Amino acid sequence: MLKSFWFWVLILFIIMQFFSLNTSAIQPIQKNEELQAPKEVLNILKRSCYDCHSSQVKAPWYYDIAPISWYTQLNVKNARNIMNFSKWNSYSKEKQVKFLEKLPKAIVIRMPLQSYLYLHEEVKLTGEEKKLLKSWSRALKDKQLGSSY
Ligand code: HEC
Repeated sequence: MLKSFWFWVLILFIIMQFFSLNTSAIQPIQKNEELQAPKEVLNILKRSCYDCHSSQVKAPWYYDIAPISWYTQLNVKNARNIMNFSKWNSYSKEKQVKFLEKLPKAIVIRMPLQSYLYLHEEVKLTGEEKKLLKSWSRALKDKQLGSSY
């Protein structure tokens, strides 16, 4: 009885693997589309944000394993829809500004996602880093608004 229970669990697990969101962690990038920013800002974004908001996700070992993959890949998909830093220059100024406006609030508690922080303590932003990201996003937003209106 017990043996057959685990047998069916295994079968179910194998079947699950056929259902994928097909959101690959690494996607081709165009060098000229990538976000340009001061090195210290880019370092923070790469460490704490690129694992969802970029085409260069450093996929953890469980990234492609269903059913966890349904959750991880959906997050990456949604995050890329809002902002993919690897495609920054391909977006309209309006889209960039909209994102920059939301950034200071988002990093107070919501970003990086809490569920991700449980497993990846090292991506948590320090107070200093939050300050730096806030002033960078405000300055860039003002620059974008200044040059388009
Ligand atoms: C584990 C994945 C993940 C990481 C890491 C992550 N994000 Fe996000 N981010 C998301 C998802 C998913 C959404 C869209 C759904 C939502 O708003 O919760 C989002 C939405 C956002 C938004 C829009 C919020 C809004 O109010 O609409 C901003 C701004 C943002 N992220 C900034 C960041 C920044 C900055 C970092 C790095 C410090 C970061 N994110 C790290 C997954 C992530």
